[in-house]
Amino acid sequence: MKALDAKLPPVLEKYTSNIETNWQPTDLLPDPASPDFHEAVREMQGLALEMSYDLWVTLIGDTITEEALPTYEAWVINAEGVDQIGKNNWSKWLRTWTGEENRHGDVLNKYLYLSGVVNMKEMEVTTQHLIADGFDPGMGDDPYKNFVYTSFQEIATNVSHRRTATFSKQSGNIQLAKICGMIAADEMRHANAYITFIKLILEMDPDGLMIAFNDMMRRGITMPAHFMRESGSPQGVAFEHFSDCAQELGVYTTHDYVDIYDRLLKEWDIANISGLSAEGEKAREQVMKRPALIKRIADRVKKPREPHRFKWVSDKLS
Ligand SMILES: [Fe+2]
Ligand SMILES: [Fe+2]
Repeated sequence: MKALDAKLPPVLEKYTSNIETNWQPTDLLPDPASPDFHEAVREMQGLALEMSYDLWVTLIGDTITEEALPTYEAWVINAEGVDQIGKNNWSKWLRTWTGEENRHGDVLNKYLYLSGVVNMKEMEVTTQHLIADGFDPGMGDDPYKNFVYTSFQEIATNVSHRRTATFSKQSGNIQLAKICGMIAADEMRHANAYITFIKLILEMDPDGLMIAFNDMMRRGITMPAHFMRESGSPQGVAFEHFSDCAQELGVYTTHDYVDIYDRLLKEWDIANISGLSAEGEKAREQVMKRPALIKRIADRVKKPREPHRFKWVSDKLS
């Protein structure tokens, strides 16, 4: 990881943004010091009622997922080679990434608070549970696996925020569309950084990467909010309902999972990596044929959505 660390500065230069000039949550929200504040909030609350219940569930679930950031930071901090004390390039990236991610939960939380249609207390309880429950996506301290997981997840969050932006725009909510669009752009930039980290690893250790990639995909990329629960409910139940909702609405589906997997195979040119050992070859074979298999299973197994009323959403929405 030391040799890799030395190759990072140009990547960081390309994929991190300038804190002083970058967007901040307050750029996208009404200013409480302004005389127009109350009018702006009234308008926001009117537009909130125009959005569907399912869109709200998805938005709230996405916000809770963003707000469990401490768990995600802990994963990457744990990866071999991230030196918080010595402040190497990996830890520099990690701190900047964490700061940028922090804006996502921050702006969405403030938006939801002002919208008037969210039961904030219930949402906060879910967030607390999610952080307290923690979650192990199976990366251990392996940086290869960490960066495969984060490459995948950053694209997945780009997809879901981008679609939420589109649906918000369709409902006439330009402000929310802009918020989700800004977040989606951050996620894509992050995805490109992690994808580049893996490209650098591939140049140095194609065998190790292939085995790690195959291992992660065999296990399956589990969503970070997998244990999401509502107050008084068992672990993971809310997540099932939330992902059913996102699937039905088309914000994030099993087909997106397969598309992201295929995209990573192409990004890393897995089909044409040379110089692999027998074990590496076997891993490549497995990693390449899996997307078609997942697609076949997804097409066959379509479970009906169970009705569920989330405690997060106020009764004002039907
Ligand atoms: Fe994010
Ligand atoms: Fe991100």
